[in-house]
Amino acid sequence: MQQPEFKKGTSAVWAGETDINALGTVTTPIVNSVAFAYHDPEHWHQVSLGQAPGFIYSRNTNPTVAALEEKIRVLENAEAATSFATGMAAISNTLFTFLTPGKKVVSVKDTYGGASKIFLDFLPKYNAQVQLCDTTDHEALEAAIAGGCDLVYLETPTNPTLKIIDIKRIAAAAHKTGAIVVVDNTFATPINQNPLALGADLVIHSATKFLCGHSDAMGGLLAGKKELVQRVFNFREINGASLQADPAYMIARGMKTLELRIERQNASALRIAEYLKTHSKVKDVFYPGLSTHKGHNIAQSQMRGFGGIMSFALDGNYDMVKKFLPKLKLVHLAASLGSVHTLAGPPRTTSHVELTEAQRQMLGIPEALIRYSVGIENVDDLLQDLNDALASL
Ligand SMILES: Cc1ncc(COP(=O)(O)O)c(C=O)c1O
Repeated sequence: MQQPEFKKGTSAVWAGETDINALGTVTTPIVNSVAFAYHDPEHWHQVSLGQAPGFIYSRNTNPTVAALEEKIRVLENAEAATSFATGMAAISNTLFTFLTPGKKVVSVKDTYGGASKIFLDFLPKYNAQVQLCDTTDHEALEAAIAGGCDLVYLETPTNPTLKIIDIKRIAAAAHKTGAIVVVDNTFATPINQNPLALGADLVIHSATKFLCGHSDAMGGLLAGKKELVQRVFNFREINGASLQADPAYMIARGMKTLELRIERQNASALRIAEYLKTHSKVKDVFYPGLSTHKGHNIAQSQMRGFGGIMSFALDGNYDMVKKFLPKLKLVHLAASLGSVHTLAGPPRTTSHVELTEAQRQMLGIPEALIRYSVGIENVDDLLQDLNDALASL
């Protein structure tokens, strides 16, 4: 097992892939076998009981998938890691493992739309209690946690308004009550932020986004304390939301360039946010790297870079958004983020499409908001593209 003794860019390349495998291939083979064969029934039995190393059935574990799980384990400096078919499968399996009837979760109003849907619609049907606080109101979060809860679920920066939560502070409050702290680290990636080092017990990724980085594979990852990861794994292996070998290979391949991509996206996003901030047709820019951002000081204390995503509100209504977006040449208007291509879209068709307009309003998401996920293109071209599109309004 590789220890986190290397820098992140090195671990992103090597973790999970250090041993020379049976075929001597320099890339991890895509093992598309459903099951794994044994000559000796006794050996088979030992592997299936976890008493000997090996693989039994790919819904549970698979060598290609295991290489990816090891990569995130090392990058998040975790005791253990497991994987899922999508980021939402990682979130839902984690929540449903711990939030059995009668249990309580404290979270924030600004979580990703799919997670919000679980909090607002699904968990109440299972008689789990949900308390959602104003995202940046740390006192309210601490008071809700002190009132008793079993799990605290955070996302920082948040989707799509890039709010910042002080992970260390909230994790300390949660641990006083014995609650498990789960952080969705999708926006930051382990290059920019390590929630476990700040006191979280579990960290979740939609690997579909920056980790894969090329918009061509979906997956979810969970890393953290061994005993907690094992409980979620036991739920997932029966629930069946397993990651397949093909997307696992694609995600691990993408992760090899994670540090390169994130460094570029951090730098480009900051320049673009600074440019938009001064533009007369832009009402508001939400990017934690801006010194004017409300969470800038906390972000500075817990992040090594501010990430590739920002959102900005045009000085107008949704009709203006409809005119503006098609004028951009260097974006795909698409419902994702974290790719080599720049991607943009309004929350009402991307992150918060599952919610009603009233629910979006309740969450403080303006209808003229655009989420802009900076790719790895040359930043001068992106700035020109934004400039031209804004000039056309
Ligand atoms: C912050 C965040 N978490 C989780 C998810 C869900 O991931 P997936 O689409 O892989 O299910 C998303 C999707 O956009 C996201 O933005």
